Amino acid sequence: MATRILSCTLNGKRHEGVVPDNMLLLDYLRERVLLTGTKTGCDGGECGLCTVLIDGTPILSCLTLACTVEGKAVETIESLERGGRLAAIQEGFHVKLGSQCGYCTPGYIMAAEGLLRRNADPAVDEIKAALGSNICRCTGYVKIIEAVQYAAGKLSARKAA
Ligand code: FES
Ligand code: FES
Repeated sequence: MATRILSCTLNGKRHEGVVPDNMLLLDYLRERVLLTGTKTGCDGGECGLCTVLIDGTPILSCLTLACTVEGKAVETIESLERGGRLAAIQEGFHVKLGSQCGYCTPGYIMAAEGLLRRNADPAVDEIKAALGSNICRCTGYVKIIEAVQYAAGKLSARKAA
């Protein structure tokens, strides 16, 4: 299999690596870069566990070839905390108990982070639509929606301060 040099921005830093043409972004992140916060589940676009941001948009890394992020900005769950301070969406999941076993949580957080960047005050239907590709076996979803609403309120308060 042919390989190539991949150049991109990864979690805010310039990144270069050697990647086989057929390697999935999910495998590249977990196995080559050792960013294991991005989880693997169905490997087929059904569960949302593998969600990361590409140029700010949530994508399923199990359906994305690593070589296709050339020149783009990739963000994983590891990028959100700043100097020990949780991002608003991480705080929302913590405060509202949006995470139980936690396995689905990184994917939800990245999907919600993408939503909040394009819509700072989403309605419940918009939250449900944005998180519709993600599956959680534990929470019953209500607390996840509350976590996103909490984060939206927190971001709004930070802007007003
Ligand atoms: S592992 Fe990517 S959608 Fe399930
Ligand atoms: S918290 Fe367990 S699968 Fe979502």
